[in-house]
Amino acid sequence: MASVLPSGGDAVTVNGVDGASPPAVKQSRAPITEAEMHAEFAHHDGAVARLNNGSFGCCPATVLAARARWQRLFLAQPDAFYFHHLKPGLARSRAALAAVVGAGDASEISLIDNVTTAAAIIMQHVAWSFVEGDFARGDVVLMFLYTYNAVKNSIHAYVARAGATVVEVPLPFPLASADAIVAEFRAALAVAKDGGRRRVRLAVIDHITSMPTVLIPVKELVAICREEGVDKVFVDAAHSLGQVPVDVRDIGADFYASNLHKWFFCPSAVAFMHTRKNDTVATKLHHPVVSSEYGNGLPMESAWIGVRDYSAQLVVPDVIDFVNRFDGGVEGIRTRNHDKVVEMGTMLADAWGTFLGTPPELCGSMVMVGLPGCLGIESEDDTVNLRTMLRKRFKVEVPLYYNSRTAEVPPEIVKDSNGDPVTGYVRISHQVYNVREEYDALRDAVAKLVADGFSCAKLRPSDEQETPACMTSIDELSASPARGS
Ligand SMILES: Cc1ncc(COP(=O)(O)O)c(C=O)c1O
Repeated sequence: MASVLPSGGDAVTVNGVDGASPPAVKQSRAPITEAEMHAEFAHHDGAVARLNNGSFGCCPATVLAARARWQRLFLAQPDAFYFHHLKPGLARSRAALAAVVGAGDASEISLIDNVTTAAAIIMQHVAWSFVEGDFARGDVVLMFLYTYNAVKNSIHAYVARAGATVVEVPLPFPLASADAIVAEFRAALAVAKDGGRRRVRLAVIDHITSMPTVLIPVKELVAICREEGVDKVFVDAAHSLGQVPVDVRDIGADFYASNLHKWFFCPSAVAFMHTRKNDTVATKLHHPVVSSEYGNGLPMESAWIGVRDYSAQLVVPDVIDFVNRFDGGVEGIRTRNHDKVVEMGTMLADAWGTFLGTPPELCGSMVMVGLPGCLGIESEDDTVNLRTMLRKRFKVEVPLYYNSRTAEVPPEIVKDSNGDPVTGYVRISHQVYNVREEYDALRDAVAKLVADGFSCAKLRPSDEQETPACMTSIDELSASPARGS
């Protein structure tokens, strides 16, 4: 009988299974064929044009199978799993990831559920710094206007409440170049510092903003923070790994967190947070869920937050094997995705008489494409209604953006070829499973709405109606023929 190992992370063999791996099933390492690639994503709903990898990502069949093996290993003998497999397995995932993202070693990597959790870890620490008197009331936390809503909420819930002043960096959109981002960032930093009267304790910089999506020159902004005496920089890289090159030491932030379930083929929920080994603040970070590992450092605290399913975090090496079957590995995947999304975005913009929201160098595998102004998008509710209609009537899944700041941007940039102001955009993604026909479906759906004289006003509730008009309309419209049928 195998002896019971206390927590410590050493791999052992129990009942023929090595501690860091579930019962092995040989995964092919040969270059992936077109047919195999399609089989990997055969569980996707084939009736839907899935143009929104950005929100929830995707997970191939071989990785799901590896995950199921971990889950069965747990169910077969939970105690043995806990004492012999969990920690070595997580250590193996962290080491594999450290090599992929250029970290010093696995001790710099914590595996967490998602970037929402990363934000909570950082903001909790900053809030305690106010409460314990390390920071003075009014010291600043800087973030973008387009910082993701959950992260903004975290800043307000933890840090503003503890006494921080929150300063937003307002970005123009559409954007012509990275220079505008740098200029706005410098200007906001000057406001934040108030002529040296205030300390900037934390800058939250997105690597790729969500909505609208823009690739931010993060390394340059981190360098500006260093020059300007900002205490700490947290890079919200929720979309980055798999979409843009990630070298955490080169970027140079204090805290860098990326999801793995968006663009790195992991099942949800798994993300990593990088902190530097020699950073004294990093040693003071705590997971917001306090467990028996409290005080053992963030990587260990994160590795045990109570009884739950850890299998998503255990399959990182399987994901790396999967991406390495593609020509050029993850770099090859992201380069092809970038080229394709720009090609498809340009195709849509040409068909609709609009434009891309950013030049190609300011996007990864997602890009914003202007929608024809005649669709009459005038609010976020309009985008929700129109998106629902695209899903139900046309079987196209794509997120929409309402640009409420259109009026502030020079008018020649924001008009379509008919002279109508462009107030709405689609955010399209490209991932390995996408095909041209899916973008054609989106193009044709919008073209049909334009040809039919559709306007979002038709989906708004009228004052007399108890049931919003949009609901009735969408349900009626959803009876129309589905794409591909
Ligand atoms: C920029 C950004 N930050 C944070 C998040 C939160 O990610 P998660 O929901 O995986 O925690 C998202 C999600 O889309 C995002 O786009």
